[in-house]
Amino acid sequence: MANLKVGIILGSVRQGRNAEAVTNWMYDFAVKRNDGVDYEIVDLADYQLPLLGAQVPEVIQAESEAAIKAWSEKMTSFDGYVFVAPEYNHSVGGALKNALDYLKPEVANKAAGLVGYGSLGGTRAHENLRLIFGELQVADVQTAVTFSLMTDFENMSEFKPADYHAANANTMLDQVKAWSGVLKTVRENSSVTA
Ligand SMILES: Cc1cc2nc3c(=O)[nH]c(=O)nc-3n(C[C@H](O)[C@H](O)[C@H](O)COP(=O)(O)O)c2cc1C
Repeated sequence: MANLKVGIILGSVRQGRNAEAVTNWMYDFAVKRNDGVDYEIVDLADYQLPLLGAQVPEVIQAESEAAIKAWSEKMTSFDGYVFVAPEYNHSVGGALKNALDYLKPEVANKAAGLVGYGSLGGTRAHENLRLIFGELQVADVQTAVTFSLMTDFENMSEFKPADYHAANANTMLDQVKAWSGVLKTVRENSSVTA
């Protein structure tokens, strides 16, 4: 049987973003588990997605359409996801929200785990994401990995995660793997759609 595929979504496009270090940490951690899952980083910044529905200048129209198609196809290719999501104004950042607004059947009946960072570990962004996932028919797992900007980063920019996060990261990935496997059979064997 083919390995499950889980995308680790780098959910910030901000220049100088902390998301890069956190996503790389999460990816290395996941791969080291050697758990029979194929992990892949998906960087939102690689997809120059226009704001959903906005008119784009003609010179970049073809490019924008290609980016939307590539984003949709990439997200379709996974059985589950880990979203690395910073907290902006007590919510999910605009770039990630916009990217999610492009999706529905691509992510429906798939599992998702959450990784965040912020003054309270990004937890308020996670709660917002859980509402969005409810509408997208994404099954978000209970355990999240929540890094503090104050104690897991030096000067709020150099990522130095405390050891104890490993336990949550393992549990979250176990849960994503379990639900990704089960939901694959749901997608293959039922007519449940988004
Ligand atoms: C516009 C803006 C709003 C923010 N609001 C919050 C917030 O409400 N709560 C919080 O914990 N951190 C907040 N932060 C801090 C971010 O979580 C922090 O800068 C983080 O590194 C952003 O992720 P990124 O570097 O990957 O883009 C905010 C940052 C920005 C730029």
